[in-house]
Formats: sequence, structure tokens, C-alpha cells
Amino acid sequence: MNVARSSQPGTSRGRAAQYHRRMDIFRVGGNARLEGEVTVSGAKNSVLKLMAATLLTPGTTTINRAPDILDVSIMSEVLRRLGCQVRFSGGTLTIAVPEDPSTETDYQLVRRMRASIAVLGPLVARWGHAKVALPGGDAIGSRGLDMHVAGLVQLGAQVHSEHGFLIARADRLHGATIRLDFPSVGATENILMAAVLAEGRTVIDNTAREPEIIDLVQFLNKMGAQIEGEGTPTLVVDGVSQLKPVEHDTVPDRIVAGTWAMAAVMTRGDVTVRGATAAHLERVLDLLGASGAMIDTHLTDGRGFRVRMNDRPKSIDVRTLPYPGFPTDLQPMAIALDSIAQGSSIVTENVFEGRFMFTNELIRLGASIQVDGHHAAIRGTERLSSAPVEATDIRAGAGLVLAGLVADGFTDVAHVHHIDRGYPGFEQQLSALGADVRRIHAPDEDYFGPPST
Ligand code: UD1
Repeated sequence: MNVARSSQPGTSRGRAAQYHRRMDIFRVGGNARLEGEVTVSGAKNSVLKLMAATLLTPGTTTINRAPDILDVSIMSEVLRRLGCQVRFSGGTLTIAVPEDPSTETDYQLVRRMRASIAVLGPLVARWGHAKVALPGGDAIGSRGLDMHVAGLVQLGAQVHSEHGFLIARADRLHGATIRLDFPSVGATENILMAAVLAEGRTVIDNTAREPEIIDLVQFLNKMGAQIEGEGTPTLVVDGVSQLKPVEHDTVPDRIVAGTWAMAAVMTRGDVTVRGATAAHLERVLDLLGASGAMIDTHLTDGRGFRVRMNDRPKSIDVRTLPYPGFPTDLQPMAIALDSIAQGSSIVTENVFEGRFMFTNELIRLGASIQVDGHHAAIRGTERLSSAPVEATDIRAGAGLVLAGLVADGFTDVAHVHHIDRGYPGFEQQLSALGADVRRIHAPDEDYFGPPST
């Protein structure tokens, strides 16, 4: 079944409708060397929250530099079912929020994308009611919502769960002092989006400081919110009674940019990543430098950086931490790199407990990895050997594709709909850099393809 041909490729509705049926495979040619230029779009992890934040006011908001990925299609559909009109063309999203939107989300969409929970704060703050299905999302750990709920309760909402939904009500939220147990990205965003319309001052302490949070703060302030402390662990929000629609450019995707940097190092290539902000990847680029890469962050013609690598990389020890630490979303790529590096390394995962599950797939490619709790010990091997593997989430999928690029033969990476959630045109961009990567439309979920040659 070739579902890509039977629907409307490139349109939000077409992509969302395909979600269930697409079980495509990437056939990745090994012994690759990436060379050339790629351009990154706006960040998935920012644009989804900006889209949710449009619910804070009626009217039409424009979001530029939006990535053409499956998650944007899913969030578009979430908003449409709330009564919004969403258009996506040439990287620009136009979202028209009606005067009286629905406040109930659609379970069939929400359960596929955890970020849908971001509509909870805006809906209850602006419209006094939200009924949001409990989300699914990546298979990377328990990912609770307790801090989201506790924050909204402190702002005066009544929240309970019923039949798989979170239900929140409030006449008008009021300011509060909220301290997060952990700098959760999602909880910071939901509480922030609720606090901007609360009565009085809210202080949120121990917040996440990711560039995507800063992007959201800037977006909200443009809308008329009064938030101070951007980029620090304490955000102070003075509530306002209403906001206005705006136009905004999404922050560049540092995780996609970091993926290209890792790919350049692993394939001993030479890749210029345009449109990225090197400062958002300081820890990552420092480590790649320590592995032997030459990194140029002062390109004469605009934003971005260039990564060159001549030799086999040296292994790097990695500890994932909230920003500005090493991002957990680049941990699978770091393990893939360490799998072919000179020497042994330890990778420690401090954010998501289940994020090492994909290492079983890398082991199928010949990697030497031992997982013990939240540590993985990796012994570098000169070259991996191709085998059929399966993507279990977006970033694990990208990590497996990178491993396939440096394996002998052809590696089939199944379940690439995970990768489609976050990497716009991944196979086209890889091909443009000289890799041999093809998308194969798999007939069903269990298809692993013929033996590779
Ligand atoms: C976001 C990103 C994801 C990234 C992660 C950490 C999006 C769409 N996704 O996910 O790509 O890997 O940040 O940088 O932006 N937790 C709780 N209770 C809560 C909230 C979180 O226990 O109420 C735990 C989670 O289980 C997890 C940790 O906190 O172990 C971090 O989660 P969080 O920072 O909230 O990540 P997400 O917002 O889900």
C-alpha cells in the first residue's frame, strides 16, 4: 500500500490522516561521507507551544519559519477541532482563533502527541474550561504531568481526571508563587501560558531555560503579556486582562542542527549548517570539538556553523541535563557516535528514564553497549554492520539513521513515522549531502524489507 500517493502529501490534513497508516522504512546506505550545506527550520519544540499559545486571544496570528513535520500537522488538527482555522504554506502558519472556541480536545489526535497538553493552560486561562485527553507521545519514560496540574491548581484552577481526560475549570486564575521540583519544559510552558492572563503577580521558580522557552516568553510578551526573567530560572509574570494576535519567527531547531553536526563528525564529513544558532549548542559543539572535529561558528555570511572531521572521532562522555546542559534529545546520536569512536565512554541520562531502550537496536548493528540504570558504557568499534532496526521515537530514529550511515551495507530503519514527527525532509536533506537514503513505503507494520545487498 502506497499511502503517500493516495493522500495529499505536504498538506496538514493529508499528513495527519496518514499517521496511522505510514509505516515507511528508510533504507540507509553505509560508508557515507556527508558534505555540503543544510538549512534548519524553526524548532518543533517551540512551534508546537506557539501554536497552543495562539488560543490565548481571538484573532489571527502568523508564525513564520514553521517546520513541515508531522507534529505540526497534528497540532494543526488539534486546533482545528477547537474551532480554529489553520493554514500552512511555505513555512508560514496562519491561525485564526474564533470568539468562542471549543475547549475539548480530540483523543484520537492528542494521544499521538504529548505536546498537545500545551493547550491546557491557554484554554483554562482564556476560556475558563479545558478538557484535554491524557497524551501519549514518545516511548521514553513515564513523563508525568503532576507539575503541570499542581501549577494550575496553585493558580486557582480546579483540575481532575475522568475517563482518560484532564478537566480543568476556573472563573479567573489568580497569581501565585510556584516552585517546580524539576525544570520541566512542558510544565514551565503550561503554567506560564496560564499565568499571563491570571489576576496579579505569579512567580515561577526553578523553570526550564531552554531556547524554546525564551521563544515562548518573547512571543507572549509581543502579544502584550508582562513576563520578566527570560533565560533565568525565575520568571515573574504580571497578569494582564487580554492579549492580542501577533506575527513571530520561530527559533531555529537546535536539535536538528545538532543532529547534522553529529552526522558530519560520524561520517568524517564537512557540513555547513545554515540558519542555526551555534550558541544554543555550546555544550554539544564543545564535546564534538573534544572528539576531534573542527568547528567554525564564525561564518562570514550569516547564522550557522561548519563542522569538519578528518579522522575517526574520539569517544566523548556525555551527561544529559536541562539546558544549558547536554540535551537529552541528542543523547541517541551521542551514543551512535560513541559506538564507532576510538576508546570507551559513559553516557548518563538524567532526564528520561526510558531513553536507553533504543540501544538494543544499535547493538543489532554491532555496537558494544552496556546499560546499567541511567548509565550506558560504550566501547567504540571501528565499523558497524547493517541490519534491520526499528525507530522507537523521533530522536532514537535519527540516531539509528546516523548509525546506518557508518555501517557496512544497507540498514533498514523501520517506523520512520517517528522521524517524520520532527525532521522536515530528512531523507532529501541527507541525499543532498551525498548519502544514499531512500524511503520505502512498507505494506504494513511488520514489514522489515528484503535482505539488504
Ligand atoms: C520537552 C521536549 C522533549 C525534550 C524534553 C526535555 C517538547 C514537545 N518536547 O518534553 O523533546 O526531550 O522537553 O528537554 O517540547 N516530569 C514529571 N512531571 C511533570 C513534568 C515532567 O515528572 O509534571 C518529568 C518527565 O517525566 C521527565 C522530566 O520531567 O522525566 C522532563 O520532562 P519535561 O522537561 O517536562 O519534558 P517535556 O516537556 O515532556
